[in-house]
Amino acid sequence: MDITSFWSRVNPDLFLQNADEGYNKPIRQLYRSLLEQLKVNKMLEVGCGPGVDFLGAKTVNPNMDYTGVDITPQMIEHCRLKYPEGNFMEGNILNLPFADNSFEFVYCKDVLNHLDNWEAGFSELYRISGGFVLVNFFHGLGTTTFKKRELHEGYLNNIFDWNEVMTTLSAFNPVEMRIYPRLCLLEEALILFQKA
Ligand SMILES: C[S@@+](CC[C@H](N)C(=O)[O-])C[C@H]1O[C@@H](n2cnc3c(N)ncnc32)[C@H](O)[C@@H]1O
Repeated sequence: MDITSFWSRVNPDLFLQNADEGYNKPIRQLYRSLLEQLKVNKMLEVGCGPGVDFLGAKTVNPNMDYTGVDITPQMIEHCRLKYPEGNFMEGNILNLPFADNSFEFVYCKDVLNHLDNWEAGFSELYRISGGFVLVNFFHGLGTTTFKKRELHEGYLNNIFDWNEVMTTLSAFNPVEMRIYPRLCLLEEALILFQKA
């Protein structure tokens, strides 16, 4: 079973009702405040899922030129129905159909941990951004051991070695990182990059 098979069975509306993933989750609040501070007008979200952060982008800037990409057709279909004013398309983070430096702000939440080759995904985000890239990672507390878990018949939920992640990312000019608790025994980092 591939990853889209898993996500196609997720009820998109649960994202908005679930307190852990809902609209007011701290990292979504920080995302919105960054859009505001940086006065972003044109952005891409990769792995937009049910579109929670599309709503956030439009709330911050009603004129936001927003594009949302997701690999799961059901998520894109849901977003198109729920937000007909939005621009949503199917696509894979590993091969995005955009030229270098196409967006002021590229955002990707809760996707990199689901990839085996997160470095390739991150490089693609960085390539198409002409300004900022905002990503999150979650990682285990008190351990630097690489772990890889397979949940739900093929849904990959990788917990990468945090030191390795940071070593790779430090080459990409991170400008800010905030750490948040996430569920039990996990914490989550939201990391902002600015292309030189
Ligand atoms: C945990 S959900 C996060 C959704 C959204 N970013 C949020 O935080 O509300 C992960 C999403 O990533 C999408 N996804 C997984 N692998 C992907 C890939 N290779 N390219 C694009 N999207 C992907 C899934 O279809 C799913 O909608």
